[in-house]
Amino acid sequence: MTASCDIRGTTRLVGVIGDPVAHSRSPAMHNAAFRALGLDWCYVPLHVAPHSLEAALRGLVALGFVGANVTIPHKERAATLCDELTPAAEAVGAVNTLAVQEARLAGDNTDVGGLLLTLAEARVELERQEALVLGAGGSARAAVYALAQSGAQVTVANRTLARAEALVRSLQGRVRGRLVAIPLADRPALEASLQRATLLVNTTSVGMEPGPDESPLPVDLPLPPELTVLDLVYAPRQTRLLREAAARGCRTIEGLRVLVYQGALSFECWTGRAAPVEVMMSAAAEA
Ligand SMILES: NC(=O)c1ccc[n+]([C@@H]2O[C@H](COP(=O)([O-])OP(=O)(O)OC[C@H]3O[C@@H](n4cnc5c(N)ncnc54)[C@H](OP(=O)(O)O)[C@@H]3O)[C@@H](O)[C@H]2O)c1
Repeated sequence: MTASCDIRGTTRLVGVIGDPVAHSRSPAMHNAAFRALGLDWCYVPLHVAPHSLEAALRGLVALGFVGANVTIPHKERAATLCDELTPAAEAVGAVNTLAVQEARLAGDNTDVGGLLLTLAEARVELERQEALVLGAGGSARAAVYALAQSGAQVTVANRTLARAEALVRSLQGRVRGRLVAIPLADRPALEASLQRATLLVNTTSVGMEPGPDESPLPVDLPLPPELTVLDLVYAPRQTRLLREAAARGCRTIEGLRVLVYQGALSFECWTGRAAPVEVMMSAAAEA
């Protein structure tokens, strides 16, 4: 189902800047939220190629947009084009939310807060806990920052070790928790980390469509039943990793929840209103 909105001269505009952008669930999620609260707002997908990013961001200001989300592949470069950044966006080096404030562009990273709200909702303790994060790409940076800044000790396991080491180097000293990098293929190191960890977060793209039967971890790797497993992949919602973890008695959390909470925080930043989270959840699940 596509989200439609009744656009008038008074309608306030927000959108999502990406390349590609047609697959994004954010328009359905935000437009459902605007309708639920009776707000004269509309959220539009904005397909912007990398060479046009700077002009597009200036265009947001010129056209009177309230703000925008930024998605792949623009999050890092957009951070360098903002007039100001929140501490989270600055530390992560990427923005996913822009707000136009008196002709200036303010950048935030609500992937950080979205992850933390999801874990808080599930009552996952982070202070002085051990977490294992799989992956060292864009979403891993936000996840590692969120966990370590909340006091967790974080092991980052990535297929390309150099990328995990670079992530650890760039955040070390800026976050409260200790960070360690290991290769994803190092089974003894993974097993040792899993024995200590209370939280496992998959930020790799392994398991997403069109490969829903793949798992980022060897399926015979023992997962302690005390472990909570969060998979950022949200298509499919029940990934192979989550299915394997549930079968071993672990608590599992779907990535769709993180997607909705990062959107809810963007919504609140633009509108100043509490986001209708369950409306957004249904729209994102249906989209
Ligand atoms: N739920 C949410 O709100 C949310 C938010 C953002 C992203 N996501 C999801 O998170 C996933 C990653 O996004 P991203 O932006 O971080 O992507 P990215 O920057 O491209 O990073 C991809 C990561 O996956 C690893 N990887 C890819 N193929 C692999 C394989 N075959 N085996 C092992 N590792 C592999 C990469 O390892 P190398 O470094 O070795 O290449 C890298 O660590 C996507 O599925 C995305 O949809 C969800």
